[in-house]
Amino acid sequence: MNEDYGEFIQLLHTETGIDLSLYKEAQMKRRLTSLRDKRGYSTFLNYYSSFHSQPHLLEELLDRMTINVSQFYRNRKRFEILEKKVLPYLLQNKNHLKVWSAGCSTGEEPYTLAMIINHFLPLQNIEIIATDLDGQALEKARQGVYPERSLNEVPEEIKRKYFVKTGVSYKVKDDIRNCVTFKKHNLVADPFIPSCDLIVCRNVLIYFIEAAKHYIYENFSRSLEGGGIFFVGSTEQIFSPRRYQLEVFDPFFYKRIC
Ligand SMILES: C[S@@+](CC[C@H](N)C(=O)[O-])C[C@H]1O[C@@H](n2cnc3c(N)ncnc32)[C@H](O)[C@@H]1O
Repeated sequence: MNEDYGEFIQLLHTETGIDLSLYKEAQMKRRLTSLRDKRGYSTFLNYYSSFHSQPHLLEELLDRMTINVSQFYRNRKRFEILEKKVLPYLLQNKNHLKVWSAGCSTGEEPYTLAMIINHFLPLQNIEIIATDLDGQALEKARQGVYPERSLNEVPEEIKRKYFVKTGVSYKVKDDIRNCVTFKKHNLVADPFIPSCDLIVCRNVLIYFIEAAKHYIYENFSRSLEGGGIFFVGSTEQIFSPRRYQLEVFDPFFYKRIC
């Protein structure tokens, strides 16, 4: 890591609590360098020194570092496994579920979970906590309004049941919105949410270095109830899950060993 970028990372960490050294460097540096250049700064330290007088530069940088791409029913096949295999297993002896959608971005993932779990449980028995580092993404999530392209994978009957079309957008119905609580949470700095039956963290950990992933897996595992399930993204299978008291339940789903 060169000195300029290294010092910049430390200053940013002190200022915002966000530690960029935990993210894969080449990828992150490339994203931030292109933004810095676009704003006309030749070094990261010069760029940083403008953040106090021009706070929008810092906001823009934080927006660039978080990659918010999401979609309802993203990788739909995995949600079919969730519905056909994982939920029947989790609901064998329960009629209430506590679910954590970590790195939920603009809300498509936790709302998808609520719609699917509602096939099994009344909405008042579904508790979904959805967290992200990015306050702006969470604000959009709370509003629950999406362009048609975000719904490309949504089955027709689900679209009819849980969305209201308003002009060119789709709004998630209030009863679904009410079972999701959105909160700001940094996976590498804040306390983890305890006693979850299901943790969903997809397309988030790919951006982190190994040491950070290790820390997050350990904490997710502790946050699960015995027998609880951890659902990961399509390129995020865990190498040696037993290190974390987890075993494979189905590819992309891990079960907490009791
Ligand atoms: C590509 S989105 C994934 C959205 C959703 N999980 C999905 O699969 O469609 C990655 C999200 O991770 C969030 N993120 C990045 N670093 C984070 C951290 N340290 N703590 C919590 N969320 C973080 C970003 O803000 C972004 O919204």
